[in-house]
Amino acid sequence: MIVTTRALFDIAYGRFAVGAYNINNMEQAIGLFEGHRRASAPFIVQLSRGARGYAGVRMLEAIVRAAEESFPEAVFAVHLDHGDEETCLDAIDSGFYSSVMIDASHEPFEENVAITRRVVERAHAAGLSVEAELGMLGGVEEDIEVDEKHAKLTDPDEARLFVEASGCDALAVAIGTSHGAYKFSGGQGIHFGRVAEIQRRLPGFPLVMHGSSSVPREEVERINAAGGKLDPSARGVDEAEFARAVPLGVTKVNIDTDGRLVWTRVHREHFRDEPENFDFRKPGRILMEEYARFIVHKSGKLGSAGVVDEVRSRLGSGSTVE
Ligand code: G3H
Ligand code: 13P
Ligand code: ZN
Repeated sequence: MIVTTRALFDIAYGRFAVGAYNINNMEQAIGLFEGHRRASAPFIVQLSRGARGYAGVRMLEAIVRAAEESFPEAVFAVHLDHGDEETCLDAIDSGFYSSVMIDASHEPFEENVAITRRVVERAHAAGLSVEAELGMLGGVEEDIEVDEKHAKLTDPDEARLFVEASGCDALAVAIGTSHGAYKFSGGQGIHFGRVAEIQRRLPGFPLVMHGSSSVPREEVERINAAGGKLDPSARGVDEAEFARAVPLGVTKVNIDTDGRLVWTRVHREHFRDEPENFDFRKPGRILMEEYARFIVHKSGKLGSAGVVDEVRSRLGSGSTVE
């Protein structure tokens, strides 16, 4: 059942975070839905512009709709991740999405407000909600690369002004995380003080944490032991910190890189151990199972495991996307 992102946020705020996972293909989709079935957790399927270009817009929609049929108990929203204005409008008009993210965070404040405002008007008229971004995360995001020294934490006062002026429904905040496998070195981590300041200015307003992969050390070691060349000092978000972020208003947690690491580990180990194999279904089956396990694990850390029946029973009229 595809539901509105707003409905999930209303139930989740302050209690648990909804995991938002990027998918690009059928194996990820099956692992994602199976994992959430096992965990009894609601979730968000995220489709990036890169994914839309890779698999094709219609193919992605068909995969998600087929998964919806195969997993009738699933309660999930469909979200456009890091959209530009044109892609947001396309997603809004498609009738398939629950919400869109307009990412104009690289623009000056007033321009970010103006672009977001235009998307909000079109989205709200069609019943979708809008996530916007303020501040600048480090790392690679779609086609824009931001190095650490240009990353900029979200200013709490600006956040309040931005939400009021743009009318957005959720805000992606720069709080120390970054996209990709190389987030932290030394004693860096989430700036909880900054999140608390933002929440004080925006009580009850859903905040979104991008760049939330944890880049498990064991995963990196297994990939490298099977021929990979990832930086062994790579570090991500400590999963134990999700529980600290949730009471501060972090309601959506974006995870992509960790899923890519599962894919890389499964394939590297498989072809190392079975170099004679050329049937892609063999590693594909392993990937679907490993991805499902990964989702069960994350759902426990996000606090979303076990709540799907309650969420389903609390969905009001207008909470589903046909
Ligand atoms: O934030 C970006 C996500 O990890 C999606 O990555 O644009 O390469 O699909 P992508
Ligand atoms: P990671 O690179 O940490 O998985 O972040 C994903 C993300 O923010 C997608 O929007
Ligand atoms: Zn992101």
